[in-house]
Amino acid sequence: MSAVEEDVGPSRERSLAPFFTLARRTRYALHQGSRVALYTLHSEAVRRMNRELQKDLPEIPKVVPDGPVPSQRRMLADIVKLFAADLTAVEDGLYPMPSDGTMTPGELLATSRAFFRDAPEVTRRRATGAHQEVNEGTSGFTAALPRYYRQNFHFQTDGWLSEGSARLYDFQVDVLFSGATAAMRRRALVPFAKILRRKDQRKVAYADLACGTGGLLRPALAAFPRLTGTGIDLSEPYLNVARDRLKSRRARFVTAMAEQLPFADNSLDVVSCVFLFHELPPKIRRQVFGEVARVLKPGGSFLFVDSLQTGDVPDYDGLLSVFPQLFHEPYYTSYLTEDFSRMAASNGLEERWWTSAFVSRVAEYVKSD
Ligand SMILES: C[S@@+](CC[C@H](N)C(=O)[O-])C[C@H]1O[C@@H](n2cnc3c(N)ncnc32)[C@H](O)[C@@H]1O
Repeated sequence: MSAVEEDVGPSRERSLAPFFTLARRTRYALHQGSRVALYTLHSEAVRRMNRELQKDLPEIPKVVPDGPVPSQRRMLADIVKLFAADLTAVEDGLYPMPSDGTMTPGELLATSRAFFRDAPEVTRRRATGAHQEVNEGTSGFTAALPRYYRQNFHFQTDGWLSEGSARLYDFQVDVLFSGATAAMRRRALVPFAKILRRKDQRKVAYADLACGTGGLLRPALAAFPRLTGTGIDLSEPYLNVARDRLKSRRARFVTAMAEQLPFADNSLDVVSCVFLFHELPPKIRRQVFGEVARVLKPGGSFLFVDSLQTGDVPDYDGLLSVFPQLFHEPYYTSYLTEDFSRMAASNGLEERWWTSAFVSRVAEYVKSD
């Protein structure tokens, strides 16, 4: 074959590259754009529904933001920025094109209907301050759970304690975050992909703490095809849903407390944790951080995704300040000023970097060698 013939393939590919790029970006924009539209419509519909329901309920005490509140436009701009970073990571080959929201139309419709059926209950709890319903008639596995955990977090039906709650959870969170939740979680896959470049995935010991229904474990195992991972959570029903959604032999699930991890000292290469720390009382928060430090190998990484804190993006401070009242987040206010960098240092971890991603703070902590 002549040199000219040899060149035909790659040069044709090169000339078509702009079209592939355009097609990929269009696909991404359509996919994420339709998700934002879907969840924004749900959010608007539920807001209108609440206005009607509220007429028959005690008036909710007015919550006054302690700081600036971003406009809708600003938040949308930050979501677009998040999606742009997500797409860049895909184009840099760090993880594959995401497949968020792969529910069938039938499943989507059923979940949407369940969401609207449940919404008046959430509104009633918010208006009456009812956040201890999970403790009425507590029995079986729930009775043994820690007291701080047995609450109707976010005023949600059954708190963390039923499969019904687990099946609605991701949809509810996406209504709150306009469909951007999965993209926020994926920020943890960027440092994860870089760590794995230096390692044999098959030999990496990995756990996701408070994995819930598998919101990070699923994309992590999809992105890194030889990785195995253990999802830890205190909620059996949430783990059952995670098992159901992530039918992979590379995933293992263990019901356990993040403050008493079922791992030996210095045994894990990577630990991740998404949206747990703001749900914990300060004392438990510190214990969990201590446990992460204990189980990580020297040089191992802790990948952290959670809410923004006060001052991270000052334009959001007022919004963060009203969140605990509106969504029953009993430990969130103390979370807002928790010094994680110091907490890390006192446990032998170093905060390597942190960054904001829409309403999330993403950070990496590395255990000293
Ligand atoms: C806000 S959800 C986050 C779930 C998941 N990481 C995600 O990204 O969607 C909080 C999760 O933390 C779990 N959880 C709360 N306290 C816990 C604890 N002390 N130990 C283990 N899991 C806990 C709950 O059961 C729930 O699944």
